[in-house]
Amino acid sequence: MPLHYSKKVMEHFLHPRNIGEMKDHDGFAEVGNPVCGDQLGFYIKVKDGTIKDVKFLSFGCASNIATASILTEEVKGMTLEDAKKFDWNKIVKDLGGLPKQKVHCSILAVDGLKKAIEDYEGRKK
Ligand code: FES
Repeated sequence: MPLHYSKKVMEHFLHPRNIGEMKDHDGFAEVGNPVCGDQLGFYIKVKDGTIKDVKFLSFGCASNIATASILTEEVKGMTLEDAKKFDWNKIVKDLGGLPKQKVHCSILAVDGLKKAIEDYEGRKK
């Protein structure tokens, strides 16, 4: 049975925002799903407790790329405290929904971002 992606998912998949490496990052994390094999890397730049910049790299499916892309748009400029509370349901909703077999992609994306924040906080200690 074919999967049907929303227009918004396809738009972010075909034109991902904030994709690429960030050499002068303050935090970085790589996460992966052992079942599907998809991976994501998140870089963050932090200033005054706020995410000033965020980028991602993907080795994953269309939904992996689209969820990471919209997440970077939504958390840029957000305080770390708010980003730590970010709920993956929001990106699913803002993407116009995901096929249920692909909802885990949004969870992986949010997990990757939160781990990059943890990395930043660990470096500060
Ligand atoms: S299918 Fe596993 S992250 Fe997309």
